[in-house]
Amino acid sequence: MTEITVGNLKGGVGKTTTAVLTALGLAAEAEAGDSDDKTLLVSADPQQSALKWAHVAGEDWPWDRVNVVAWTDHRTLGRQIESARGEYAHIVVDTPPSRTRVTRASLEAKTLEAALTATGNLIVTTSPSAIDLAEIADTFEVAEAVDAIRPVYTSVLVVRVLWSTKSATEAPAVLVEDFGYPVMQSRISAREPIAQAFGTAPALTGPFAGYADALTEIHARHDQQEA
Ligand SMILES: Nc1ncnc2c1ncn2[C@@H]1O[C@H](COP(=O)(O)OP(=O)(O)OP(=O)(O)O)[C@@H](O)[C@H]1O
Ligand SMILES: [Mg+2]
Repeated sequence: MTEITVGNLKGGVGKTTTAVLTALGLAAEAEAGDSDDKTLLVSADPQQSALKWAHVAGEDWPWDRVNVVAWTDHRTLGRQIESARGEYAHIVVDTPPSRTRVTRASLEAKTLEAALTATGNLIVTTSPSAIDLAEIADTFEVAEAVDAIRPVYTSVLVVRVLWSTKSATEAPAVLVEDFGYPVMQSRISAREPIAQAFGTAPALTGPFAGYADALTEIHARHDQQEA
């Protein structure tokens, strides 16, 4: 059972791409292991980007293994996730960016809060650029508030990494040392095929292999938590 919320109140930092590819990776693992495990991908953003992604993919989308729903009401999101547990082995929630100046009271923050309360796991995606790192604290504040009530395991996945750039090398260190945030070992490169992946259902190989690594890391962490 893997339950993951992908979140960052900053917009355009790879949340939907990560949620979709992670859900597809979980489905591919089930297929490879000849298992009937189903994955639920929850589009909890008002744009319903993940749902649109799957619809555009149409017959290419593995509907028998990954169902996609739009649950955007923060008041019912938690209950809907709970009720999905019987049917789905894995649940991945894509959450919205904040459209206003980030406050804990914004609807988007409440959606993130509801998703975290239900799943207990947060992957914060961010690019390594200073402008994105500068805003990451707002998301951690929401996670910490939920964590005070129920444990939330939070880690950062650095995406859109241009290798051998200063920001790529320094970003993880900044996150760990300046903020004290756990950063995943896996990194997602900035790649044109990832930028163009909307509406497709790619295998996590070649340019997408970073997401397969991230999934391996997620499973390993999950096993540790269980132990
Ligand atoms: N690894 C990558 N390499 C290149 N482009 C990427 C990568 N990951 C995401 N992108 C691109 O970055 C943009 C933002 O990605 P995405 O929509 O997944 O972010 P988001 O955080 O869900 O945005 P929003 O806050 O608007 O919901 C998109 O154009 C996407 O194609
Ligand atoms: Mg999105």
